[in-house]
Parts: sequence; structure tokens; C-alpha cells
Amino acid sequence: MAKYNLKINGKSRQVDADPNTPILWVLRDHLQMPGTKYGCGMGLCGACTVHLNGTAVRSCQLPVSSIGKQEITTIEGLSEKATHPVQKAWLEHDVAQCGYCQAGQIMSAAALLREKPNPTEEEIELGMSGNICRCGTYLRIKEAIKTAAK
Ligand code: FES
Repeated sequence: MAKYNLKINGKSRQVDADPNTPILWVLRDHLQMPGTKYGCGMGLCGACTVHLNGTAVRSCQLPVSSIGKQEITTIEGLSEKATHPVQKAWLEHDVAQCGYCQAGQIMSAAALLREKPNPTEEEIELGMSGNICRCGTYLRIKEAIKTAAK
């Protein structure tokens, strides 16, 4: 066990954790932030996507000891001040079906639009290709990203 001082959603959070604990479990189990989801635990599905200094990363693959002073943003922090444009577009297009993968999808979409404010179809497909949805909401996701980009 070691002590870590993490910056999450703009706040300092202290945790005692094994250095190898993925940040996904630090968020969910140590800090009771269940918005970030566990899917595969192998870096394959994207359900656990959070932002690290604004870039989409898979929290199941990031040991807590690798974070240092980097800023983590979770789905809980994305809309802390106001509903994020991606979330508004998600509601407008009624994207979610079962909803399980959607936090990760939204975090990837927000990071994509931060990097490319007006993405092409191909850039959307490429940017979102790491996020799997078993319900097959891909078309609505793509339309919502285009709406959020307007
Ligand atoms: Fe992290 Fe699937 S749970 S990529």
C-alpha cells in the first residue's frame, strides 16, 4: 500500500492503494465514483474511458502509481459546471439503449471534439473505434457527435 494524492475533477483526493491498482478501481471502489464502468478490464472495450490531461485513456490499464500530478476527469466531472455539449447531443439523439458503455463513449467523444472540433466522418469513426457498444448505438453516436460539433 502507498499513499497517492490525485487530482480528480479539479479536486485533490487522497487514496491508500496498492501501486498496481488500476485507476478504474481507485475511482469506483476507493472514491465511490461509479460513473466510470468496468467492461473487459483488458483495454479492449472503452467502457472505462476517462480523460488524463484532456486525452481519452482506458482507466483499467492505468496503475494509480503512473498518474502523478496529471489531472483525471471522469464522467462525473465532465458536466460539473454545466451539461457538456456532448451530453446535450446524446439526449437530443436519444443515444443510449442499455446505457452501460455510454459514459466511456461520451468521454471519448468529448476528447475527440476537443482535439478536432469539426471532425470528418472518418475522424469520428477512427476516434470512436475503440469504444464498443453491444446494443449497436453507433449510428446515433455518430449523429450526436456531429450535432455536438455544430
Ligand atoms: Fe477498460 Fe474495457 S474495461 S477497456
